[in-house]
Amino acid sequence: MQQKTFITSPIYYVNDIPHIGHAYTTILCDMLKKFRILQGEDVLFLTGTDEHGQKIEQSAQKHNQTPQAYADSVSIKFKELWNEFGLDYDIFVRTTDSKHCQSVQKAFETMFEKGDIYKGSYEGNYCISCESFFTQSQLGENLSCPDCGKQTQIVQEESYFFALSNYQDKLLEFYKQNPNMIAPAFRQSEVVKFISEGLNDLSITRTSFEWGIPLPENPKRNDSKKHIMYVWLDALLSYISPLGYMQDSNKADSNKMDYWENALHFVGKDILRFHAVYWIAFLMSLDLPLPKHIYAHGWWTKDGAKMSKSIGNVINPKEVAQAYGIESLRYFLMREMPFGQDGDFSQKALIERINSELGNDVGNLLNRLLGMSEKYFSLQVDSKDVKKFFATELNELEHIINRTQEKMQTMQPQRYIEELWAAFSLGNGVITKYEPWNLMKNGEQDKAMALLGLIANILAKAALLLYPIMPESTDKIAKALSFSINPDSFDRFIKQHALLDNLTLTKIPPLFPRIESPLMSESTQGEAESKESKTLKDSKSADSKLESAGVANLIDIKDFSKIDIRVGKVIECSAVEKSQKLLKLMVDINEPKPRQIISGIAQYYTPSELINKQVCIIANLKPAKLMGLLSEGMILASKDENGLSLLCLDTPRENGSKIS
Ligand code: ME8
Ligand code: MG
Repeated sequence: MQQKTFITSPIYYVNDIPHIGHAYTTILCDMLKKFRILQGEDVLFLTGTDEHGQKIEQSAQKHNQTPQAYADSVSIKFKELWNEFGLDYDIFVRTTDSKHCQSVQKAFETMFEKGDIYKGSYEGNYCISCESFFTQSQLGENLSCPDCGKQTQIVQEESYFFALSNYQDKLLEFYKQNPNMIAPAFRQSEVVKFISEGLNDLSITRTSFEWGIPLPENPKRNDSKKHIMYVWLDALLSYISPLGYMQDSNKADSNKMDYWENALHFVGKDILRFHAVYWIAFLMSLDLPLPKHIYAHGWWTKDGAKMSKSIGNVINPKEVAQAYGIESLRYFLMREMPFGQDGDFSQKALIERINSELGNDVGNLLNRLLGMSEKYFSLQVDSKDVKKFFATELNELEHIINRTQEKMQTMQPQRYIEELWAAFSLGNGVITKYEPWNLMKNGEQDKAMALLGLIANILAKAALLLYPIMPESTDKIAKALSFSINPDSFDRFIKQHALLDNLTLTKIPPLFPRIESPLMSESTQGEAESKESKTLKDSKSADSKLESAGVANLIDIKDFSKIDIRVGKVIECSAVEKSQKLLKLMVDINEPKPRQIISGIAQYYTPSELINKQVCIIANLKPAKLMGLLSEGMILASKDENGLSLLCLDTPRENGSKIS
């Protein structure tokens, strides 16, 4: 039986047009759907719009429209954008759909009959922007919202309450039993802490405005007409109403509740509490299965400030896609932001990634393969001898593939891509290492063919794994290599480790042409002056103080963490022929083979002085050639007018230890 899986994005408020943050979450869902489909699963992906509540009612008034007309006009913008981006959602739910309203009323009645809903009176503060209640002690300065900082309003009204406090222990037990429910893990700790500090019952109906789902009539409640549902109760239930939850017209074939058995939610960190506390408690009250995971990502910022309409620093994803293409945008969003942390959007970073990672690492590799196979073998390549000549490299490739896949199980798309890039480096590395042109010159045709076969297989396997992130580009790669990306080929080439058969390659135009200068004008990115951007400028000026103190080009810890510095022992060392400056060192950093490093230190050290010395090397520097010799790293040293000194350790460490 095919595993059924349900993936949801949040349903977005219609008071705001879609921006890059909304696009990010929705693309994440699309990416996971594509990944799971390749694994052979049957996946439903839900997105939609959240259209009730005080915030929407007020926005509609500002636009001189009825709430419904206003919601219609914005909801369609979300839908059109996802269509334009080719996002493969199956359900676009709107909370104003009548079927949804029916499910919400039924759910309310179920919780009421169970005794989890009681009538009371609410007095406290409400943030309209977050549609969220707060007690006095939770509020920030001047009664501001602790989540978004906006002014809250005092609300005093009759209300029905959900007995959330009854679920405190059950929630804690649930998270104890499911320690990996929320990713990243530190978010689960935050949620557990929040629950442990005590839960107040939740007001789930409102009487002071009208734009919401009415309470169902019930003789046990004579005032149902006065109340409408709290918008978060309404919105969260939109995850199950389109599956047919408790609907009258339930025909067997329209009920999709079986997908709910394996539900995965993607949310931004701003709405994690609603999902991880309230939603889980509602589901417990309804005796429904609980979701398998909640994946909570961080915020996209622009110049360090959260992107939001009210700040006016919103990046329009449509413009970015028009300028750079949806594929590059997808790649950038998935690659730039470590899942769970915040990420900053800039054209500079986008262009750098397109040129170096997509253009150089992937596009060039494909071009070189096509070019060489055309020149040497008229585009006919086979994998017959790949194992014979390149067993080590194939083995390395399988390791990379396994490491890559693990990262998706733990929802780390950025790490997934990083691991996957080792495959492209391997592909580029074997060209430098084995020099197919020399193999051809020396009459080693078989080995050259095997090498091109190896590269074709690296590209094919990497394309299968990159497909969820860049579906169109990888389809093009697959076409060039004469195979197709689908669950069957995923099974053969990724799970069964098969190699491509004989293949006829097809030349295609460059996939990722180089971008020389920004394609969007900065002003279109809406850089409004704001409190946030001012704070940022202040922190920038702190940076420039440091810079004038002699520390140039400040980087953050993220940049530093890209540099892999390791301890290694020099096990062999010799002079490089015809060179006064260079030494050839073999350095053991606890890898299967020692690294060959060519270093310009011959005037300062003799080979015998260096043997058995522990030095520090940059281990993830791209390999380079010096005097025709491959150098696979760089030794760290410091130089002044008195000479050069290698960086050595105070006390010996294991070879391969990381320096941080
Ligand atoms: O909260 N960076 O809707 P919403 C990253 N209707 N993601 C962002 C973002 C940013 N700067 N800004 C928004 C609601 N998002 C409710 C949800 S669900 C039952 C109801 C994304 O329109 C992110 O996914 O305010 C965030 O959680 C969501 O949009 C909030 O969308
Ligand atoms: Mg919001």
